[in-house]
Amino acid sequence: MKVLGIESSCDETAAALVLDGRGILSNVVASQVSLHGKYGGVVPELASRRHAETILPVVEEALSQSGAGLQDIEAIAVTQGPGLVGSLLVGIAVAKSLAYVLNVPWVGVNHIHSHIAAIFLFEPTWRFPFIALVVSGGHTSLFRVESHTQMSLLGRTRDDAAGEAFDKVAQLLGLGYPGGEIIDRLGREGDRAAIPFPRTLLEPESLDFSFSGIKTAVLHHVKRLGGKLSLPQIQEISASFQEAVVDTLVTKALRAADKESTKDVVVVGGVACNSRLRERFTQGKYTSGIEAHFPPPALCTDNAVMVAVAGFHLLQEGFRSDLSLNAYSRLGRENGQG
Ligand code: KG4
Ligand code: ZN
Repeated sequence: MKVLGIESSCDETAAALVLDGRGILSNVVASQVSLHGKYGGVVPELASRRHAETILPVVEEALSQSGAGLQDIEAIAVTQGPGLVGSLLVGIAVAKSLAYVLNVPWVGVNHIHSHIAAIFLFEPTWRFPFIALVVSGGHTSLFRVESHTQMSLLGRTRDDAAGEAFDKVAQLLGLGYPGGEIIDRLGREGDRAAIPFPRTLLEPESLDFSFSGIKTAVLHHVKRLGGKLSLPQIQEISASFQEAVVDTLVTKALRAADKESTKDVVVVGGVACNSRLRERFTQGKYTSGIEAHFPPPALCTDNAVMVAVAGFHLLQEGFRSDLSLNAYSRLGRENGQG
């Protein structure tokens, strides 16, 4: 079954055609980074307008890249939420219209579940259940994944997402937006143990996260240093900040695997591109007893391949959406309260 995936939850307009949840026939992502960069974060009103301008060319490009025509689309999957409602509605309107005129089944998918679904492209079979750590600019959550479509939330951030912390610290250091990749690069040259930034682990059993404290700690450290920071100082702050975030993420994921008696941990979302996070999760000395799995970086950040894969599995299980489907902004708001 050829599924057209459509993603427009934040600042990427994306479309992809995927065969049977495994074969990537095309993958088109139009990033809005240059539009939002000067504001240091995504401006919702600008994002939805840009999605409206870009979505049809992106869908056309996804079809032409795969050599397919509209008549080859057998089903459609679209991100329903969580995300920016104005942006989500653009993708949803296109999905509804196409599904209606082509008379094909379609389904709304949860953006966070679709990040996890990216991993289903890479193994013929999965040992369920496993733990999924979703770390992106908007989300930091732990899930117990029971099947291709059943996932239960174990913990989530109580304030900032990990990617948001990377972006805010980068802004504080004057490094630009989005900051994760820049901090990752600069951090390779700095001493990770130089500054003992806090690791907020919350209650002993908790699988929740909190990243607002470390952001404030970096701010105080920068203020204490005063004046313009030198490159070695920026490298040292980047390395130490990154190590504290990575320490927290690894500790919580291991705690979840232990609690749920599972061996496999899947790490997805934009922050899963982070080289130190990948290193820490794959070096046995840090994570003995668990096996970590990452999609390739291009499928960790927002894309529509993951949406098509998540949609494929939902469709296989008989899920269908109808024209009453609406966008939702936050997890837990799936029933249409915005
Ligand atoms: O998954 P994504 O594209 O969008 C959301 O759903 O939020 O994630 C974007 C986030 C940004 O905060 C960005 O700074 C972060 O992923 N990111 C990274 C790296 N590459 C992207 N964070 C740390 N290290 C990286 N290499
Ligand atoms: Zn995302």
